[in-house]
Amino acid sequence: MRQIGKWSRLVTVTGLCLLGACAEHSPLGSFADSTKDCAEMLLQRDSQTVAKTREQRFLGKVPDTTARCLGGKHAESLREGPWLDWPNYWAAGDATSLAPARLLAHPKVIGPNAHGINGALYELELQRIELIKFNLFDNNKTYEAYVTGRSGEAGPVLNTWPEMRFPQSHPDFKSVGGDQTQICRGELIRFRTLTGTCNDIRNPLMGSTHQLFARNVDFDTTFPDLGLNETARNRHGDRVGLLKPDPQVISRKLFTRAQSQPDRCRDGYGLPGGGKEAECEYKKAPFFNVLAAFWVQFMTHDWFAHLEEGHNRPEWMAVGCATQLVKNIEQPLTEAGVKQLGCRPDDKIDAAYIAEGTEPRSFTRDGKAYLTRAPKTTANHVTAWWDASQLYGYDERSGKRVKRDPKEPAKLLLMPVREGVGAGDKLGYLPVFEPGDPINPEWSGQEAAAFPDNWSIGTSFYHNVFAREHNAFVDAFRKQAARKPDGDSGLRNPARPDVVIRYRDVTPNELFQVSRLVVAAEIAKIHTTEWTTQLLYNEPLNRGMNANWHGVFAKQEVVADALKEVLRRLGDTNDAKKANSLYAALTGGPGIFGLGNRVYDGVPLVGLIEPDKLDRWDLKNDDHINGGVNHFGSPFNFPEEFITVYRLHPLLPDLIEYREWNKEPNVIRYKMPLIETFRGKATEAMRQKGLANWALSMGRQRLGALILQNHPQFLQNLKMNRLQSPTQQIDVAALDLIRDRERGVPRYNEFRRQYGLKQLTSFDDFVDTRLPLDSPARREQEQLVKTLRDVYGQHQCDASKKITEAQLNDNGSPIDDCLGHPNGSLIDNIEDVDTVVGWLAEFRRPHGFAISETQFVVFILNASRRLFSDRFFTSSFRPEFYSTLGVEWVTKNGPGPEIMEQGTPNGHQQQVSPMKRVLLRAMPELAGELQTVVNVFDPWARDRGEYYSLEWKARVGAEGDEAFANKK
Ligand code: HEM
Repeated sequence: MRQIGKWSRLVTVTGLCLLGACAEHSPLGSFADSTKDCAEMLLQRDSQTVAKTREQRFLGKVPDTTARCLGGKHAESLREGPWLDWPNYWAAGDATSLAPARLLAHPKVIGPNAHGINGALYELELQRIELIKFNLFDNNKTYEAYVTGRSGEAGPVLNTWPEMRFPQSHPDFKSVGGDQTQICRGELIRFRTLTGTCNDIRNPLMGSTHQLFARNVDFDTTFPDLGLNETARNRHGDRVGLLKPDPQVISRKLFTRAQSQPDRCRDGYGLPGGGKEAECEYKKAPFFNVLAAFWVQFMTHDWFAHLEEGHNRPEWMAVGCATQLVKNIEQPLTEAGVKQLGCRPDDKIDAAYIAEGTEPRSFTRDGKAYLTRAPKTTANHVTAWWDASQLYGYDERSGKRVKRDPKEPAKLLLMPVREGVGAGDKLGYLPVFEPGDPINPEWSGQEAAAFPDNWSIGTSFYHNVFAREHNAFVDAFRKQAARKPDGDSGLRNPARPDVVIRYRDVTPNELFQVSRLVVAAEIAKIHTTEWTTQLLYNEPLNRGMNANWHGVFAKQEVVADALKEVLRRLGDTNDAKKANSLYAALTGGPGIFGLGNRVYDGVPLVGLIEPDKLDRWDLKNDDHINGGVNHFGSPFNFPEEFITVYRLHPLLPDLIEYREWNKEPNVIRYKMPLIETFRGKATEAMRQKGLANWALSMGRQRLGALILQNHPQFLQNLKMNRLQSPTQQIDVAALDLIRDRERGVPRYNEFRRQYGLKQLTSFDDFVDTRLPLDSPARREQEQLVKTLRDVYGQHQCDASKKITEAQLNDNGSPIDDCLGHPNGSLIDNIEDVDTVVGWLAEFRRPHGFAISETQFVVFILNASRRLFSDRFFTSSFRPEFYSTLGVEWVTKNGPGPEIMEQGTPNGHQQQVSPMKRVLLRAMPELAGELQTVVNVFDPWARDRGEYYSLEWKARVGAEGDEAFANKK
């Protein structure tokens, strides 16, 4: 057992409270009635601390007593295997996971259900703290300082870096201080800048366009295909490479959707004229809709882009369909083999951009050698901030694509393009690109948008919705201004902080920028509290995500004592380890959003406990403006591994089930091929049918499950005119693997070890052993395991080869090539599995998880970080920047007072969700349809049941919906 530090005991014990465990009772009293198992668990947890070295990490596995305390015999029986334990706890699933009545004898004493949920949250928080501690690797040459520290300060508490200064060539170099200490002030810090500079006022370049992607994994483990060190060579032998195993063969064998009419679905067209008899089957997630699929594509366009203006390096390379393994030996594919698979040897793609490819410098610390960066780096060609850059732009060229309303330049230009019957149509639609706009030829005919690549009905939908939202805010602000022109808008100019800005003083450009701030914050809130809670549809995650945003203390006075204790100890955070861990624990308390946007005398967050305490936040004080951000010693940008887990192409259906809101919403009128809505055709379809009909159609339809053999074939056969190849086609699913290999993402098993998850020791580990042996689902999984073995092969293992530095075997010995199997035996090449393939193969998942636990752990770290690092979501979430109306709008999900949802969904009283409010403003005609919708990303006609049900069952009034006739 690890040794206890004083602070870590605090994190651990109060951690339970921070995360809600003590919501009803004092921390210690709550356990008074617990069983022997629970008492033992408490002892174990009390002595558990954040790992000192990464070999000691938690790995999501608990002792049998803990499992029994938190989930009874059921949880204990499911501890075998590499998968997380908390999903088996009481109340972490649907109604069947709730503790039986006999265990709930004392309704006033914290019961097993609360224990289960809180135990899960505790483990999630421990994982997050350890992720922050062990998984930050910056490529921008700050990593050496992270390891060695600077001027006596430990690396993990550093928060400014010379590498994040403006270079002399930057136009704002002089204004931020030139060669002296650089600090952004005045106009540079007022709003989100186009290129994302000066978000952190002391790190002007951080998160801006063209900064390098970071990593979450040890640099030594990146680019395993290059075999740059002995451990990598031991792990993979010579079995992996850019085209090894062949990506198109993997795509065709492991990714293709099985469909009853493959000829009709191969290119995505279904039946001529959109006939609704067309069947392009896909495996569906019953609790997540097509709007959710396009939401996340819309998000990724804001966060990261490897491509520059929709293309890569002008260097054309082959993409496989050349070899396959036959009895573990690589053999050329025959013509017949090519035909049978349906892949294309003549496809070519432009090679990925590499920012730096020279050998990285290394350094030593305490006798250990480190690389200063990954062997190759890549740049993020958009801002890394959650700043709605897909709508507003991320550089000069993309900024020029954004059209403002010449009559009211605070607004985005929206045109009256259709005579719809809905009130929303009158709000207008985005204009189309005009000749002279800075675009690629293939984007012509599309709606004008800063990020126009891979455009379809989904991206068109969100761009139109949020353009309407932008304008709705402007209208509301103008209305307020008309009512009291001399009133204080709340805004201040940091260049003249003492001058009150009255409503009448606000210029159109200022209002445009304020509206951008509000829209970006709304999007972040929707993603955190609405999209993610449906993606991870269970109670622990619902609480976890809401706590991330709002904090668990907001309305729970009983835990104030625990908070006070944490705050008292926060006085001493100059210790690197404390800072790293306590800040993460802290988010369980006050939430990330708004962190540091109030400043009190004495302890930092005392105002949460004493609301009357005077707020001393001051625009003249740089530390107040920037004081809420925390980068944990590593400048913020997304890690390459984050992009990997967002390769979510199986979410897409082939055909959109088109409906009309003002006829009979239960009727599917026809099935529109998604591919018929690509690029300019999306714009046509949007204008012809109208936003509300697309909202209804995509809102009611389930999206594709993220599993093997569920990629749409039209993406495997995608036509792209820009490609310089005989076929001018590309297999996007294969490309997902190739890009990861080009960018050096570790393969699946090492990826898991790096993130603090248990490794697999054979392909059989993927099988969900909870399923009965003879069930069709189990048989299908076993068949897929055979295919994995066929594609990736097996080898005779050598126990003398150590394959990882990240973890040890349970007995403390190094993990070797045999993964616990006898030396010399034939074992699965589980180490070679591409990460995307691995997470798609995770059949066993926590309840309500549309993604796998491997993807999830990547989100835990990075989803928190992009809030923590952003001044506009923390200390600068203030009326001085957002206006008084803007702060209210984000907090209450729109204008006016807070509006509550009817009933208590999943046992909670909650505000009407932020996305529902956005949709109601953009399309008032959907009020009837949305009345029963609690989460916009749950299929709109689904009955959500009592407690996290995943059943595909129609709600009252939608029994006639044709989608429910098909249970699959
Ligand atoms: C309309 C449907 C879509 C089309 C036509 C499409 C097409 C593509 C193509 C061609 C690429 C490869 C670019 C390259 O590396 O050369 C790509 C990359 C990617 N796509 Fe999609 N995609 C679609 C939907 C989605 C959705 C729903 C998601 C969900 C998150 C998604 C996430 C990604 C990601 C993360 C990448 C990697 C981006 C990067 O490397 O920076 N795509 N997509």
